[in-house]
Parts: sequence; structure tokens; C-alpha cells
Amino acid sequence: MIEELLPVDVRSAEAFDDDADIHLFPEERAAVADAVPRRRREFSTVRRCARTALGELGVPPVPLPPGRHRAPQWPAGVVGSMTHCSGYRAAAVARASRVHSVGIDAEESAPLPEGVLDLVALPAERDLVERLGARSDTVPWDRLLFSCKEAVYKVWFSLAQRMLGFDGARIDIDSGGFFSARFLVPPPRAAGKPVPRLTGRWMHRGGFILTAIALPCP
Ligand SMILES: CC(C)(COP(=O)(O)OP(=O)(O)OC[C@H]1O[C@@H](n2cnc3c(N)ncnc32)[C@H](O)[C@@H]1OP(=O)(O)O)[C@@H](O)C(=O)NCCC(=O)NCCS
Repeated sequence: MIEELLPVDVRSAEAFDDDADIHLFPEERAAVADAVPRRRREFSTVRRCARTALGELGVPPVPLPPGRHRAPQWPAGVVGSMTHCSGYRAAAVARASRVHSVGIDAEESAPLPEGVLDLVALPAERDLVERLGARSDTVPWDRLLFSCKEAVYKVWFSLAQRMLGFDGARIDIDSGGFFSARFLVPPPRAAGKPVPRLTGRWMHRGGFILTAIALPCP
């Protein structure tokens, strides 16, 4: 599913369940040594997805340990993103010569728990969720908004290398499957140029909400 949201320069792989026996490199094993089994499974499966996608770029299997602020460390010359939620795991990668950054996110298709929207959404975004909900109740728009923000954050972090609050970017969602984000803080830079706005795509299918952003090199 995720590949439908990404340009051809981005290679991806996804999984809907976990294998019991996935090879991890020692530094990856160390990263989840104290984790609960569920966390070890998602961590392992998403890395298998990432290595499959990297293979499509011609990159041999390499360790992908978490780095600063848990962001995955990709091999030199590669950008990428990973996501997992109950029943779904995906990774997307690209050559840094073609794509500055990738951010993907997966969420279960269910409304956010009570009170969470107020914590993560700007007033204008709450209005947007209400407007979209008045037109169609088939998509949990609040969850989609959250997913857009997570995908934005992953792109932001790979460029800016620092945290971004939920009020750091304003999301706009097009009910046809596109979304955009405008940074409300000094924008990140890619190849020396500011990136004030990101555009992405979303999908609601099979019990999941998927969002994806690829920032292509000019
Ligand atoms: C990091 C974060 C985005 C992860 O999102 P999530 O929906 O909880 O979880 P997902 O399964 O989709 O993504 C987890 C994966 O994201 C990746 N990730 C974690 N931190 C990351 C970061 N700082 N930058 C990029 N990718 C990151 C990792 O690959 C991680 O999987 P792994 O731990 O198995 O390697 C989220 O936990 C977070 O901190 N959000 C707060 C910041 C934010 O969203 N700001 C809003 C800006 S508008």
C-alpha cells in the first residue's frame, strides 16, 4: 500500500505480520535487549522491510540502529523512514542524490483517544477536522491529522536534527488523498535552501491510515 503514496525514486517494503526469526545485527539487538516482545517484533520486522527496500536500491544488508532521538541511522547516501502500528510495518528509502528526505507514518483506523486532538492540533486544524467530518464520516480525520504530523516530524527531524512541537507546523488535508504542511517555526533547510512547506499523500485502506512525504531533489 505505502508504495502507492511514494514516487518511483523511493523504494518501500511493508509487512502485515511478524516472523519469529528475523536476523538483527548486534547493535540492533542491543537497542531492544530490554524491550518487551511486542517492541522487539515490530523493531525486527520493520528492519527486515528496510533491508528489503534497501536491496532494491542495490544496498547490501547493513545495521540500522536507532540514533539521536531514536531516528534510524541510514547508510551514507541513503535517506529513509520507518513506521509500525498494530498489524502493519513499513519502511521507505531513497538515494540522497534523488530525494532529500522521506517521512512515512501508519496508524490504525480509529479515532484518537478522548482529549488527544486538543493536545496535538492547532485551533485551525481542529476546525479542519470538524469540516472534513461534517462532509464524510468514513475516515477518522483526527487520526489522519495526527498521522500527517508524525510524517512531517520525521522529515523535519532528518533535515533539522531537532525536535518539533505539534504547534510547529500547520497541516491542511485534501479529502482526495493529499495533504500539506506549512512550518510555523524557522523552516528546515535542504541543500542550503529553506523548505517552508511539505506536501504528502494519504490513504485509508484495510483498517489503516497511511501518510507519506518525499521531498525530491530539484
Ligand atoms: C518519533 C515519532 C514521530 C514516532 O511516531 P509514532 O507514530 O509514535 O511511531 P511510528 O511507528 O510511526 O514510528 C516509529 C519509527 O520512527 C522512527 N523515528 C523515531 N524517532 C524519529 C525521529 N526523531 N526522526 C525520524 N524518525 C524517527 C524510527 O524508525 C521508529 O521506529 P524504530 O524505533 O523501530 O526504529 C513520535 O513518537 C514522536 O516523537 N512524535 C512527537 C513529535 C511530533 O510528532 N511533532 C509534531 C510535528 S508537527
